[in-house]
This record gives sequence, C-alpha cells and structure tokens, in this order.
Amino acid sequence: METLQIGGVSARQLADNFGTPLYVYDEDKIIAQAKDAMENFSSDMFKTEVAYASKAFSSIALFKLLAAQGLGFDAVSGGELYGMSRAGVDMSKVYFHGNNKSNKEIEEALELGVGYFVIDNVMECRRLIEIAMEKHIQTKALLRVNPGISAHTHEYIMTAKPDSKFGIFIDDTEHIGQVIELLAESSHVRLAGFHSHIGSQIMDARSFEKAIDTMTYFLAYVQREYGMEQTELSIGGGFGIKYLEEDQPISLGQMCKTMVKYTERCIQEKDISISKLITEPGRAMVGEAGYTLYTIGDRKRSGTKDYLFVDGGMSDNIRPALYDAGYRAVLAEKYKEPAWHTYCIAGKNCESGDVLIDTIKLPEAKSGDLLAVYSTGAYGYSMASNYNRLGRPAVVFAGHGKARVVIRRESYADQYDLEIE
Ligand code: LLP
Repeated sequence: METLQIGGVSARQLADNFGTPLYVYDEDKIIAQAKDAMENFSSDMFKTEVAYASKAFSSIALFKLLAAQGLGFDAVSGGELYGMSRAGVDMSKVYFHGNNKSNKEIEEALELGVGYFVIDNVMECRRLIEIAMEKHIQTKALLRVNPGISAHTHEYIMTAKPDSKFGIFIDDTEHIGQVIELLAESSHVRLAGFHSHIGSQIMDARSFEKAIDTMTYFLAYVQREYGMEQTELSIGGGFGIKYLEEDQPISLGQMCKTMVKYTERCIQEKDISISKLITEPGRAMVGEAGYTLYTIGDRKRSGTKDYLFVDGGMSDNIRPALYDAGYRAVLAEKYKEPAWHTYCIAGKNCESGDVLIDTIKLPEAKSGDLLAVYSTGAYGYSMASNYNRLGRPAVVFAGHGKARVVIRRESYADQYDLEIE
C-alpha cells in the first residue's frame, strides 16, 4: 500500500502524530517557489522586489522562511504587521496595504519602520501625512491606482473593475492629482510610485500585460504632468495556481520573467524609466505547497448523493462555499488505486452549503481512511473560522522527511479564553 508523501513524510504518519484535520505544508515546495520568483523577477534596467502577500497564509514560521529567501512582504492590517515584526522581518521591505487603515494601525506601522504605505484614497493620504508629521517619522508611499482591467476570475476576487472599492480609478485625475500634490508638499511622506492589482487566481499573462501597459501609460502621464521620474511600480499579485486537473497555470518563475520582460518593453516604448518593479504573489507562493488531511467518518447515501463526511469543513476551508471553488483530493493511502466511485465530500459544520467537493471520483472509501485535499495552502488557514466552535486545525511544515508544528491546534479552552464570565 503506497501512501502519499508530503515533504518526504507519509500522510498517515502526519495524521497519527498531529491529528486531523491538519494543514500540512511542503516546506521544500515553498522554498522552491520563493527561489523561482526571486531568480526570475530581476532586471538590468531597474531594481525588483518580490513581496509575499501574507493574506494568503501568515505565520511567524513562514515569515522567517521567506525573509531568509530575501522576500519582502505585503501586509493589510496591524495584525499582519505585528506577526512580521515578531518574526524579525526587515520592516523596510514591508508594503502596508489596505483600505481604511486605522490611525492606530498607521501609527504602529510608522513606529515599526514599515517601508511603504500603499495609499488607497485621499482621506487616508491626509491622515498619513498628519500622523507622520506628529510623530516626526519619514516614510514612503505608493498610490494604489485602479487600472480598470477586468481579468477573467471570480467576481468576488476581481478587484480592478471601475467601481471597485480599492484604489483610485485611473481616469479620476482629480483625486490622483490631489494625492500627488499633497505628498509633494509633505516633508514626511514621499510619493515613491504607484501600485495596481487586478485580481486573483488569474491564469493568463495577457491580463497582467494589459495592466502593465496601462500603468506605464499612466507613469508617462504623471511624468509629463507632474515631472515625476524614476518612480516605482507595483503590479500586485494574482497569479493563478492549479486546483483542478484542467487548470494549467504558468509557473510562478515564468510569470515573473514575463512580467519583467514586458515591463522593460513598455518603458522603452514609452521612453520612461522606473526605479523599481514590485510584485506581490500570495497564492502562487504557498497554495500548491499546502494540503489538508481529513479523516473520513460516516458515509451516507442521501438521494442521488453518496456522502463521505470529514472531520473538518467550511470552518477550515470556506472557499468552496464562498466562491464555488473546486479542489482535487485523493485517499492518501490508496492514491495510486483506480478511482471509480463517485462521492460527495461534506464537512461537519452545521450548514447545508458545507460541501468541500461536490463530485469526486475515489477508490472505495471506508471510515478511518485519510483524505488529502490538494492546493489548500492559500486562503485556507487565513480564512478559517471557529464556526460551530470547531477549533482551527494545527499547521505543520514538512520538509526533508521531517515535520514540525508551526501553529498548534486550537483547543476548546483556546476558544473560550477570550471570554469574561
Ligand atoms: N496584492 C494585493 C493588493 C491584493 O489585494 C492581493 C489579494 C494580493 C496582492 C495577492 O493575490 P494572490 O497572489 O494571492 O492572488 N480570498 C480569495 C483571494 C482574495 C485575494 C485578495 N487580494 C480566495 O480565496 O481566492
């Protein structure tokens, strides 16, 4: 009986040692992705930075791992910044994103020495200038511009529609001008450049190229209009990964290389120069490196469905219920056997939408079998909840045949520790 191995450790051994449900990351895969991005996202024409979008999955162990590979980070909250600072990340390589940053978060970020604030709107810009002045701290900013590119992806994760809540729409020259002028007058906050992000789980490089084309036109405009030169440009993240068999994503390294080459071409054509190009992959860095292991419990036929129930569900993976996201999975100890039986994998959360995989072919399954769901490394743990008071599963890093817990399983007591009786 051949068992699925993750990072050189058998899935059965992981389940027996750490319990299920369990998030397992193949540490070697994460390192390989980081290296692939760092090696390919480089240019002779400008500096480059790969900033990991920590919303995909954040943990102190991961921050340490990626910082050691030379990556920067994208944070969107005080909570993410706190984790990075505890991990000893070089905060000058951190980009602080998000709409509606609170004054407290801005203060904390300034005190931590965050490298860049990615400004979402004019009000935020004014607040940042004021707080930086009060605290006598100098900092840099990028302005988030919505290039209006609609990439082919799920509507909830598509961010660059003209009426998106993020950034300032590219045609809104009035508000863009206000930010540029406010920052030109500020002695504490310097506008270093511009940021754009068009969405997530985008498979085709063309959408990114369109965004780069649009953003470099925009840079030519700000150069003409405001004399801004040598600006920095962030193209955001959003590179797609393989969830289902039919998904054929371009590798992270290849995507990075294509983006750099395309930017080089665009700036030459438009006769502008940039000082730095930044990208912020989240999903592509950790998604395929992550697996969720579940133990199969009861099996039940209900109408046309043959249900296999697992010991987790929408509380550890909300993506199927929220985005209709598809996943592939195997029985970890029978993963080489022919899959001829059609099942529906449902969780134990008290909601009929708690279906992880609606239709999947597996070998004959029995109670106690181990189910391994692939590609759960991004937006799994980070979007997990305590719904129905199911504790969040533990997170294990496995690599070179060894496994270690990086986030322990949430106990009943952990969940009630915040309560005042
Ligand atoms: N940069 C910015 C400004 C972003 O808003 C995002 C994602 C990223 C980078 C990273 O995108 P990635 O490389 O991970 O696609 N919860 C959804 C995804 C939401 C993405 C939000 N922003 C999901 O589970 O599919």
